[in-house]
Amino acid sequence: MQEKFYQTNSVEETYLFGEALGRCLAAGDVLALDGELGAGKTTISHGIAKGLGITSPISSPTFTLLFEHPAGTGNLPLFHFDAYRLTDEMEWYDAGFMDYFDNQGVVIIEWASKIKNVLPPTAKWLYITTDLVKPNQRIFRLNIECDSSFNLEHLTAWEITQELKLDLY
Ligand SMILES: Nc1ncnc2c1ncn2[C@@H]1O[C@H](COP(=O)(O)OP(=O)(O)OP(=O)(O)O)[C@@H](O)[C@H]1O
Ligand SMILES: [Mg+2]
Repeated sequence: MQEKFYQTNSVEETYLFGEALGRCLAAGDVLALDGELGAGKTTISHGIAKGLGITSPISSPTFTLLFEHPAGTGNLPLFHFDAYRLTDEMEWYDAGFMDYFDNQGVVIIEWASKIKNVLPPTAKWLYITTDLVKPNQRIFRLNIECDSSFNLEHLTAWEITQELKLDLY
């Protein structure tokens, strides 16, 4: 398991960070997003969609469980879930959503901790934390499997050192 920390200081930077992240993703990848209300899960998802070359309109899935976006220039469709309204994994399972883990697109799940017990072990986790004293700052903790083909170098511009990550967890 690799763990890296990143920081952004504005909505725009989070979008750009997402765009770079989107360029790192490959067919079958599942990105689990975790973070409180307003942490930036939807913002980064929109950036990721841009990075995947998605051209269809992206809207917030706040009142919808799933937004499907046909493949754009990156040739990967995006399945953007928001699990906020799910009570537990059983609802995910009953809705037939397990099938999405076995496809040739990219899956992003906001509030992924709600369904953590059914996520594939290869899921990449991105934990977002906010700081009340710095309202425009976001710290991102990315956990990915060591054997992943994921190229972290694309994200170097936002990386922060161990010393800077404060006492986050
Ligand atoms: N660095 C930053 N990155 C992202 N968003 C930021 C940043 N600084 C401030 N914000 C604000 O935080 C909010 C992020 O909203 P967003 O919808 O992306 O969060 P979310 O995690 O998806 O929330 P929800 O849990 O309601 O789905 C926006 O209001 C945005 O303006
Ligand atoms: Mg959201």
